Amino acid sequence: MLGTSPNFSEKALAADPVAVARAINELNVVYCKSRILHSAVELGLFSYLGERQATAEEIFADLGLQPALAQDFLDALTGLGLLDRVAGKYRNSAGAAEYLVPGKPTFIGGAVRSHGSIHFGLWGRLTDALRDGRAQSGLLANSFKKPYDDPEHVRRLMDHMDAFNNFVNYWLDSAVDWKRYSSFVDFGGARGNTAVHLVRTFPHLTGTVFDLPQVEPLFDEHVAAYGAADRVRFHAGDFYTDALPQTDVAIIGHTLHDWPADDRRRLIARLGEAVRPGGALIVYDAMIDDERADPDSLVQSLRCRMIREGGSEYTAAEAGSWAENAGFEVADVIHADTITNDRILVAVKR
Ligand SMILES: C[S@@+](CC[C@H](N)C(=O)[O-])C[C@H]1O[C@@H](n2cnc3c(N)ncnc32)[C@H](O)[C@@H]1O
Repeated sequence: MLGTSPNFSEKALAADPVAVARAINELNVVYCKSRILHSAVELGLFSYLGERQATAEEIFADLGLQPALAQDFLDALTGLGLLDRVAGKYRNSAGAAEYLVPGKPTFIGGAVRSHGSIHFGLWGRLTDALRDGRAQSGLLANSFKKPYDDPEHVRRLMDHMDAFNNFVNYWLDSAVDWKRYSSFVDFGGARGNTAVHLVRTFPHLTGTVFDLPQVEPLFDEHVAAYGAADRVRFHAGDFYTDALPQTDVAIIGHTLHDWPADDRRRLIARLGEAVRPGGALIVYDAMIDDERADPDSLVQSLRCRMIREGGSEYTAAEAGSWAENAGFEVADVIHADTITNDRILVAVKR
């Protein structure tokens, strides 16, 4: 699970007042650590150290850094556990080597990159957003199509998405009894990372990714890299306006949070028409707990609101009611131990 919140209670204050003040100050300055990580990824430091160990002087020369700040930067990264310093040379720590070196299937640096280049700037305007009640990116909920004119933007977005869905994929293995089904469609399935995982894990399944046409070239590239091109196909379309393919299982993950509640309900109703009786619906997102007490999903919900007009997280109960209205019965809500603290709702078509 994600980290627990600091304790600011009366009891904690009485026991150790300085610890309470320190915890408040940690919230105050934690963004500096985020920025150190963002810059290390932006500079390509983990990629550079993926192939070598290097002295500080070699790193400064090869990455074009000035020692005045960069020495502290390297040692802060070491203190944060992302680098190891051995006999005067820096190298990636095991965790950085696993998750921050581009090209690995476990790479989550795509999400670090987008947080550094887009989200950080938006969050700088949180006070304005709280006053005007608007997303700060200028993006509307249905705004995927325009930015998708830039293929590099689409690729960066796919890197960002896969950083997170990689961790959900394993939880989907046991979300339903896949032996009972032969097909699935991943709606908003992006370049097919989840679909590829499922057909590799369950060879009897045939998968379809339904997404906007601009995503198809990246899908082709991704599924080919995993040798899954004959098992997963791409169905280009708009899930609000185009006919949807029939399927045993419909998946929709990290997608409903991009849309206002009425659109989510409408989309789930459309999925209800696409799933055969006895089939299943799988919805995953960093859903808000019923008590609205989990800070991680609430921060994630705010993140959606900052990015996209009408976006937000929602509770599993809300998702369940959209599913019930669409002809499903809720079978399970799984709290998955992913890096984004996801909940997976499973419902069966009546
Ligand atoms: C936030 S991503 C989620 C991707 C993936 N399911 C995951 O878990 O990482 C939302 C996806 O929905 C797709 N999408 C957005 N609007 C769409 C529409 N109107 N019709 C079909 N797909 C759409 C986007 O292209 C994108 O791949």
